[in-house]
Amino acid sequence: MIRAVVLAAEEQGWEVYGIERSYDGLFEDDGVYRLDRASVRGITHLGGTILGTTNRGNPLHWPVTKADGSVEYEDRSEVVIDALKRHGIDALVAIGGDGSLSIAHALFQQGLKVVGVPKTIDNDLAATNLTFGFQTAVETATDAIDRLHSTAQAHERVMVIELMGRHAGWIALYAGVAGTADVVLIPEIPYDIEHVCAKIEARYHVGRRGFAIVVVAEGAYPKGGEPRFKRKDGGQVRLGGVAEEVAIEIFERTKRETRSLVLGHLQRGGSPNAYDRLLALRFGSAAVKLIREGDFGCMVALDPPNVLAVPLGQAISHIKTVPLDSDVVETARNLGICLGD
Ligand code: F6P
Repeated sequence: MIRAVVLAAEEQGWEVYGIERSYDGLFEDDGVYRLDRASVRGITHLGGTILGTTNRGNPLHWPVTKADGSVEYEDRSEVVIDALKRHGIDALVAIGGDGSLSIAHALFQQGLKVVGVPKTIDNDLAATNLTFGFQTAVETATDAIDRLHSTAQAHERVMVIELMGRHAGWIALYAGVAGTADVVLIPEIPYDIEHVCAKIEARYHVGRRGFAIVVVAEGAYPKGGEPRFKRKDGGQVRLGGVAEEVAIEIFERTKRETRSLVLGHLQRGGSPNAYDRLLALRFGSAAVKLIREGDFGCMVALDPPNVLAVPLGQAISHIKTVPLDSDVVETARNLGICLGD
């Protein structure tokens, strides 16, 4: 994405600067530096970002410790806009998920020329069919599910794997169906553990050796219950633990040997697949086009087969969850995959 922005902007005769660690770099020595053709050579196949990032320190909700030790939150958006001006930046390309793009939207409303690019493995941004990073995460998760089959089959076990997805079960559903899971639990469908166990029992009565694969999104929760979180981290809720909980409940009810694991940040790592590379390059090139045409306050979005512009306000208006009438949900049901309901 960064490479596409730099190359397309250079074609326009513009200079591009990278800001390290989201907006933090604006306030650090050497935190803003020139990006040119040479500095973005050979980065297309790399995961992560050459600029670094953070999901803390929202400038709209900046923690300030008072003399008495209490913490109050301030809106520092004006400070950010002033810093951008000081650095001579005319337009900003903001890359990220709902958090980053909400900040970008607020800065736009205060007069900053900004365009957004949707990037999150969660695929939960509204107004775009896909965010880049999602396809690679699904591939990694599917590969992990494939590998779990070895132990599940050999030991006749139930293997429960927890995948990322706080409010939306895109990764779990897509990887679960592609990886031929028996049960897929997503935040959009609160689960009934009895139904999950019934499916698992049925699975043990197919063929000579039974086993089962259960895929759980980290934000999945039982009917009448709540998502599991490990801890609160600087005001942010860290989800996690649902796979273990589900595994214990399955064992208690079925007495089938059960193991659980959390795939965690492995889903966010590694080289992006060809689909994500191409999508990121298309988004970067489209972002430069928006700047060229003065289309600020917009996000580039995939509306297959096209990349177009949508208002940032629309993109952040709500979390894009898995529609319950989507064909992938229907496919899962038609294949006999238990969705917990
Ligand atoms: O933004 C995507 C996401 O991967 C979520 O699915 C997950 O809950 C979260 O990030 C993890 O964040 P952190 O890296 O801060 O633990």
